[in-house]
Order: sequence, then structure tokens, then C-alpha cells
Amino acid sequence: MQYLSRGSVPKKRHTRHRTDPGFKGEGLFYEEVITTQGFSRAHSFAYHLRPPTRVKHVESAGIQPVEVAPQDVLRHHHLKSAMLPAGGDPIAGRVPMLANADVTLWRCRPTQPQAELFRNALADELLFIHNGSGRLLTHFGVLPFRPFDYVLIPRCTTYKIEFEPGVPPDLLVIESAGTINIPPKYLNHDGQLRLGAPYCERDLHGPTDLLVIDEERDTPVIIKDGPRLSRYVLASHPFDVVGWDGLVYPFTFNADDFEPITGTIHQPPPIHLTFETSGFVVCTFAPRMLDTHPEAIKVPYAHSNVESDEVLYYVRGKFGSRRGVEEASFTLHPHGIPHGPHPGTIVASRDVKWTDELAVMVDTFRPLSVTKQAMELDDPKYPYSWLD
Ligand SMILES: [Fe+2]
Repeated sequence: MQYLSRGSVPKKRHTRHRTDPGFKGEGLFYEEVITTQGFSRAHSFAYHLRPPTRVKHVESAGIQPVEVAPQDVLRHHHLKSAMLPAGGDPIAGRVPMLANADVTLWRCRPTQPQAELFRNALADELLFIHNGSGRLLTHFGVLPFRPFDYVLIPRCTTYKIEFEPGVPPDLLVIESAGTINIPPKYLNHDGQLRLGAPYCERDLHGPTDLLVIDEERDTPVIIKDGPRLSRYVLASHPFDVVGWDGLVYPFTFNADDFEPITGTIHQPPPIHLTFETSGFVVCTFAPRMLDTHPEAIKVPYAHSNVESDEVLYYVRGKFGSRRGVEEASFTLHPHGIPHGPHPGTIVASRDVKWTDELAVMVDTFRPLSVTKQAMELDDPKYPYSWLD
């Protein structure tokens, strides 16, 4: 990530950052150091009106379970999540679809505003905004988002999602046990995105305006660690930061800003790589020119996923190699079973020069399980869909 600074920070870290004369309290802003991987990796510094540690009450807030369906057979799945009923708020309304120890994929179509502030203590969250616009509010300030944005929220960021009225919001939530990173292969030795990488610093957007909420009143925050939810009632509003700087903060990247890499013949899935973690990768299948060799086969070759489970979430446009998928479909092509273009798609793509497809791929290194809710959206005929 690139270094960002917002608002007022002292000249030197860990020194007195004085408030204006006459300001209440001890005459100092309170520093919070926000770190990753202990104190070893990227970090930021925030300066609060009040200490962020003043907890008045702690209680259980229940659990957000991920219930796996009986997995009695290994097979392909097509999950039609467009059929998922809308409901709940942007946190409680999340419905788990696929999960392993590294990642849980949730769908969320909220109908209510977010009831309480929320903080994921154990996982980075990558939201993909399928529909809706709005703002992510955090102590780093306001982060506007729009359709087809990825919104990366580092773990331990307290947040509230606000949607603009008018368009029913629709989210894919990728909850990651490992830190979600920009792929190291896209970075040069100076830490800058390489020339030729499919995006650059200008495509990544951090928080804009600070909020600086000066409220001494009980403020509940739901903290999630795994399925467990705890309610922390703070003595004041945590979005009281007057300034921050560093490399840890939420940011957006719009899928339509992904610069596709193409060739004369079919290029393999890693060209779509967008984010990377220890347990999976996220790839963006963005609109692009198709292969230009006069004899090119313009849809992917059949392959078995070796040491990988492959999830595609279909966002927009017509997906050239698949029949029957619709907007908001997931396909899961698990380890060890060959899959490839559907019958007729090789011929159908012969004279096509351009694809308008937009899809998000999550390739996990460990097997995924299908949840109980996802099985209710499953098309049991999908494994046989490669027959003529
Ligand atoms: Fe594949």
C-alpha cells in the first residue's frame, strides 16, 4: 500500500500532539498504533480526541454461525444466489455460501441500515459491491464506494456501511483469515506497482474526509472473532480521530479499472490476479479483447484444479465458456474433477473479438465446503451440464 496522511499528526511519532488551548481533557490527542502481524508489517498511527480504550460494558452478542451441508459426494456446484431473499442489515444479513479455514464467502442483500458499529477482529474483509453505492465510515474517515468496487477493510477496523437510497444493495463478502495483499509480483523493489501490472496506485482510493465525531456517549461496537460476537459498549464514539498516517487503512479498487492482459492465444487465470493471501487468490475477469491468433480457441481449455478449488462469482455480461449461469451465480469447480468450456461455446466464440464478462474468481488452496443455505440454491443437474 502507499503511504497516506489525513488531518493533523504530530511532527514526530509518540510525542505530545497538543490540542488547541482550552480544549477539554488533558490537552493532548491520544495516539493509537494500528499494526499488522504483531508489530512486524504495515502500520498506521491515529490520534483520537479520547483514549480508544474506555470500555463501559462487555456482553455476548451471540454467534454468526457457518453451517456446512453434509458433503457426501465430490461434485461441481452451481449456486444461484440471485434467488437469495433480501433481508437484515449489512452485517447480520450476511448468508454464508462457501467456507474453509482460510475464507468464508458470504452473500448479503441488506434491507435495513447497519444497526451497530462492527469490527472483525480475526479476518480481513473484502467486499465486492455488486449493486449499490454508499460510504464506509471508519475512524480513518469516509470511504465512498460504487458498483463493482472491491472495498478492502483491514481486520480491527471498526466500521459502518451506509448505502444511498434507491438501488437495493447487493454484496459479495470475502472474509479472509490471512492478510489480503496486493500480489508481491506486481511490486518492484521500491514497493511501487510495476509498469505492466493490471492496476496502479491511481486506481486505489483511500478514505477522503475525516469524521471527527466528538460524542461522549455510550457507543456499542460488535466485535467478531470467528463465529463469536461480543458487544463492547464504549464510553465515547470511536470515530473521533483528528488525524492519521501510515499504510494500514481501508481502500477501494473498482473492477472496471482492472487493465486486462491479453494475448494472441489463451492466457492462463493468473493474468487476472487481483489480490493474494496465504490461503487463496482473488482474480478479476474483466471485459477484454479475446485472443487474436486466427486459429485461437477463445474459451479456456479443460483442466482439473490441482491443489485448488475454483469459485467464480458472475457479476455482469455474458460469460463465453459457461451456459446456464446468470448474474449472481456461483460455480464451484472443486479439486480433481476436469471442467472446461460448455458444449457449443468453442464454436460460438470463434468470431467474437471482445467479451463484456465481469466475474470475481476466488481460488482456494484448501478444499471448500458448501453451506446449508448454499445447498438450497444449488442446481443438482450442473455436474452433467457438459453432455451435449
Ligand atoms: Fe477453471
